[in-house]
Amino acid sequence: MWKRTIQRCSFSTTARRWTAPETTQQPFPPDINEWSHPPSNASISDEEVYRLAAKPRQPLTLADLVKHGKPPLPDAALLSSANFTLSRLPARLAHRIQALRNLPFIVVANPNVSKIYNNYLHSLSTLEPFYKKSITTIEEEIKFTEVMADLVRTHSNTIPTLAQGFLQCRKYIDPAEVTRFLDQHLRARIGTRLCAEQHLALHMASTGDAALQPPDPSHVGVIDLALQPASIVRQCESFVAEVCELKYGIRPSLVINGEVDAEFAHIPMHVEYIITELLKNAFRATIESGNEQYPIEVTIASAPDVTTTKLDALKKLSVTESTNHDFSQDGLEEYCSGDDSEMPPLKTAAPCITLRIRDRGGGISAEALPNIWSYSFTTFNKEEADEAANGGNGNSEGLNAIAASGSNQSSIAGLGYGLPLGRAYAEYFGGGITLQSMYGWGTDVYLTLQGIGKMDDLRKRPSAFKELEMEHRHEHKRGKD
Ligand SMILES: Nc1ncnc2c1ncn2[C@@H]1O[C@H](COP(=O)(O)OP(=O)(O)OP(=O)(O)O)[C@@H](O)[C@H]1O
Ligand SMILES: [Mg+2]
Repeated sequence: MWKRTIQRCSFSTTARRWTAPETTQQPFPPDINEWSHPPSNASISDEEVYRLAAKPRQPLTLADLVKHGKPPLPDAALLSSANFTLSRLPARLAHRIQALRNLPFIVVANPNVSKIYNNYLHSLSTLEPFYKKSITTIEEEIKFTEVMADLVRTHSNTIPTLAQGFLQCRKYIDPAEVTRFLDQHLRARIGTRLCAEQHLALHMASTGDAALQPPDPSHVGVIDLALQPASIVRQCESFVAEVCELKYGIRPSLVINGEVDAEFAHIPMHVEYIITELLKNAFRATIESGNEQYPIEVTIASAPDVTTTKLDALKKLSVTESTNHDFSQDGLEEYCSGDDSEMPPLKTAAPCITLRIRDRGGGISAEALPNIWSYSFTTFNKEEADEAANGGNGNSEGLNAIAASGSNQSSIAGLGYGLPLGRAYAEYFGGGITLQSMYGWGTDVYLTLQGIGKMDDLRKRPSAFKELEMEHRHEHKRGKD
């Protein structure tokens, strides 16, 4: 059926969907069952994907991720975390499948792109046995957690694979279309992975030997309630300086000033990713402009920011027409009026952290400046990229650079992903990145991150927490008997 449909339809590089040849007798648009997709072993039907993709995708806030409490979680809280995760993922995965299907067929049929497409179908079909009913027993929760581990593993190499695929298809798709697709896809991926990773982390910290250890006072799954930006900057500095030493034989220095002791609640993985990317850019510019005698300066500021309701928190998410792919706003007010809208982390003031990363790396030229937020735009190794670009056709240089970089995350530059993906991570929970270049002198980058309250209720009520802990230990012991 797949081959038959390929022969019947033609492909337009400008249209996003199939167009039927003028002479065809087939109706257009074709019946849903006649649409072609790359071959797949996944058992999930097209109708099911359509049904799920049409469902409203509910938002995800940092507060959602801590609402089940601090681990070790009792069974009831673990089940509630599993069901919460399950309530978010199917519609999101189905929506991504639809977005991939909406690419020109010649693109989604590319081996690399269709690998990603199949990964989504696979993950959705592994969820199917769970979302038809809710998870009610710990045995089901354990199986569900295995599915989450598989999901995180399956989608870990998405970025270089997709980049490679788009490079191979560059003749058939407009570069602006690639950037638009990647921006939506990678932003949506942040939320999907986070849901799965949070449940995995809560499960790991609540079962087995971990449940018998003294509870970690500052972590709720992947969230650090007392994250210190200064210490993350130091960790990232050490990594980026190593990379510079290998690539250039030079190690620029970095000073931190401002509120060096500030702390807030956020996701260390995300903050590390963003700061590493910003430091890579600053270090590279500093070295390439021969100004390594001037240290990179990171200034930290913490502003109290009162987040009172879930709706307020959501309104802060930068939701525009081009970024609302991750959740639909249907029923947002109704969703926010639910019971958990006054949950403890939202009642307390949450600091908003701003970091300014200042370098003397010569700034960004007027020619490059409009492009720096596009996926795949880079000024790194341009000669090599141009050569590989097959005569060069506009933005495809960046795609070649992506392929050249492959999955090597420890290169100083070259993917052209650092700024746009870093901004996507910052914006995901209501922060942002802005950049001010003084061409001929240097660059200031402002990273803002919005924290959540600190779950003071749990902190102030150790006895209540102790109760949960005892209950959990009891259940755990029961499980072992
Ligand atoms: N601090 C800076 N000083 C000078 N130029 C910069 C700075 N930050 C970014 N740029 C310019 O913006 C471009 C895009 O940056 P981005 O981080 O998105 O990609 P990249 O650094 O080229 O590759 P990578 O994906 O590895 O980060 C860079 O190639 C560089 O030309
Ligand atoms: Mg970069």
